[in-house]
Amino acid sequence: MSFLIAPLTIACLSAVLAALIAVIDRIVNNYGECQIDINNGTKVLTVKGGEPLLSLLSSEGIYLPSACGGKGSCGACKCQVETDIGPHLPTETPYLTKEEIKDKIRLSCQVKVKSDLSINIPEELFNVKQFDATVVSIKDVTYDIKEVVFDLGDETITFHSGMYIQIVVPPYDKIKGTTQRAYSMSSRPLDHNRVELLIRLVPGGIATTYVHEHLKEGDKMGLVGPFGDFRRSSTDSIMLCVAGGSGMAPFKSILHDMIDSNITHRDVWYFFGARSLRDMFYMDEMYAMAKENPWFHFVPALSEPQPEDNWTGETGLITDVLDRFIKNTIGADKDMEGYLCGSPGMINACNNVMTGNGIPLEKIYYDSFA
Ligand code: FES
Repeated sequence: MSFLIAPLTIACLSAVLAALIAVIDRIVNNYGECQIDINNGTKVLTVKGGEPLLSLLSSEGIYLPSACGGKGSCGACKCQVETDIGPHLPTETPYLTKEEIKDKIRLSCQVKVKSDLSINIPEELFNVKQFDATVVSIKDVTYDIKEVVFDLGDETITFHSGMYIQIVVPPYDKIKGTTQRAYSMSSRPLDHNRVELLIRLVPGGIATTYVHEHLKEGDKMGLVGPFGDFRRSSTDSIMLCVAGGSGMAPFKSILHDMIDSNITHRDVWYFFGARSLRDMFYMDEMYAMAKENPWFHFVPALSEPQPEDNWTGETGLITDVLDRFIKNTIGADKDMEGYLCGSPGMINACNNVMTGNGIPLEKIYYDSFA
């Protein structure tokens, strides 16, 4: 029998240890009720501590931007935490500037609420809502971009053109838990009951694969928004807009908004780049808009036109086309502003062309996506 004593002792010790760890865990992680004071008492929430600030806020109907869904990989969920909660975490610092760290800006998805907190968020975030939307149409605008239109039912959305919204993707296939991703709205702000998005398929992308391969008309989908400060300025400067692919979305919204609001006093040049004709879309709509509105100039360009495209328009990289037009057609001496929507690389290259032609960096606005 003695050969059984050692394994039994080890098993008993393990069980006791596991129970002890569970008890300690419960004690250590039991932060009880905590109060979150938002914007100096504008709103005070009572929550159960121990969870990330981002999710506790959203469970109370306060939605901060969270393009990565709280995974600590987008840096969008910033807020100011006035209470001293210890040093910034290594998962936060890559997304914060020195000034932000000094200003006590934190990534709310990385900060756990363990005591009463005082935080500050932009006022407009009080208007962000979660919508239970219904997909009313899905259209292929290219082989890899879908135009998806959502109906908001009895709810309404108020936004300015250029803003974005987050879609809430449910678990599917091997994807556990929900995933949130941000997309610029292409719909017009006048449409308070519907939201239109342009979603390009990213190979292996959780949200885009769901939209392209699973989402159907009639399906329900959560939307959270609106967010963002990419918007048309109120100056008279000429607007130079540059986009490619699904970067079309905010400009479609901005252009329709200008027409709806009868803003005709400033010229808008829209440079839209694509590889070949199969990557181009909304051409008829843009040309028709340009025909009806003398202030709007549409310049599509192909970087790799195919023989079967029979393309007679501009060719080359969109940055080169932009540079040519500023120098030869618009005039580098004009008062201009830049509006960019695309990958960080494209935005960088456009920034160089624009600043090289005398446009100050602070007059270049952009909406960057990977
Ligand atoms: S939600 Fe993306 S970093 Fe916090």
